[in-house]
Amino acid sequence: MTTSSVVDLRSDTVTKPTAAMRKAMAEAEVGDDVYGEDPTVNALQEEVAALFGKEAALFVASGTMANQVSLKAHTQPGDEAVVHPQAHLLRAESAAGAALSGVQFRAVGRADGSIAPEQIAGVYQNGSNPHFAPTRLLCLENTHNFAGGSVLSLEDMQAATDYAHAHGMATHLDGARVLNACVARDWRPAAVAAGFDSVTLCFSKGLGAPVGSVIAGGRDFIARCRRFRKMFGGGMRQAGILAAGARHALGHHVARLAEDHGHALRLAEGLAGLRGVTLSMGLPQTNIVFFKVEGARMTLAELAAALQREGILLGQMDAVTARAVTHLDVDERSIERTLHALRRHLGA
Ligand SMILES: Cc1ncc(COP(=O)(O)O)c(C=O)c1O
Repeated sequence: MTTSSVVDLRSDTVTKPTAAMRKAMAEAEVGDDVYGEDPTVNALQEEVAALFGKEAALFVASGTMANQVSLKAHTQPGDEAVVHPQAHLLRAESAAGAALSGVQFRAVGRADGSIAPEQIAGVYQNGSNPHFAPTRLLCLENTHNFAGGSVLSLEDMQAATDYAHAHGMATHLDGARVLNACVARDWRPAAVAAGFDSVTLCFSKGLGAPVGSVIAGGRDFIARCRRFRKMFGGGMRQAGILAAGARHALGHHVARLAEDHGHALRLAEGLAGLRGVTLSMGLPQTNIVFFKVEGARMTLAELAAALQREGILLGQMDAVTARAVTHLDVDERSIERTLHALRRHLGA
């Protein structure tokens, strides 16, 4: 099986850089970024800061590093941070918040990935009672990966960040896929970022670059992040080669995220018609589809193995739940091929 004949729906992180992106990377002007001397990294940081309406930005190796450096820069060991129970920051970053920042998480939220002010109020501590850790940070995620790529509304985000700021907390947005939210709702990125002291963006997901994320925020905050990036081993040297891929993605791969959303919807509509398949979170709002296989002709494991034999890869979240993510390397034909195979295995 050649790679090009594989339909890889496990994640949008699996994309390969296009020829034009590779060319931009090969031709990038570079310098030593630990000295702040890489012109391509500096240009990317300025572009992303402007995109989000923030004073400054910092290029880092990954979405996890972007979240963890931000968490470290916002908190002291022994502080609490409010996160959603399904937040990537809590669930899928190898307990880095506890290990690297000494932060205790309070997990509250609604099924759609948002957090209501009353839910924050239910766990908030002002630090005056020595029994209780002070609540210093609110983290939201948009789009929300494990809530099915859901888009948190501007109103819900503002209600949560207003509550946080009124209570002296900082606010962080895990914006790994925030441009998917912007494209889906026709929002300006700066409007989404307005209520947050820090916001991240990943280039190695739907945007199709091989490596890299950016944190944007205030000048002093980003200066602290720069120190923690070094502390965490993330100071990179001629990183302009990577930043060039990210800049190319910003210039060429944003508007096309709408195609990924259309493909996810088409896939979900097809899935909904199959025997023993239910959409876990309804129709997708962006590029992520969660579905359950229960009471079907095959178990999910059997189905995934059968699909894999014909070059179609699904993410398996648990014994019955699958995740399919659309991206730059999945076209309409890939979706039709996947639906055809699913119908063959499960029956319509
Ligand atoms: C919402 C969210 N945040 C952060 C990350 C971490 O990104 P990375 O895999 O680049 O560390 C992911 C990865 O999928 C994610 O979905």
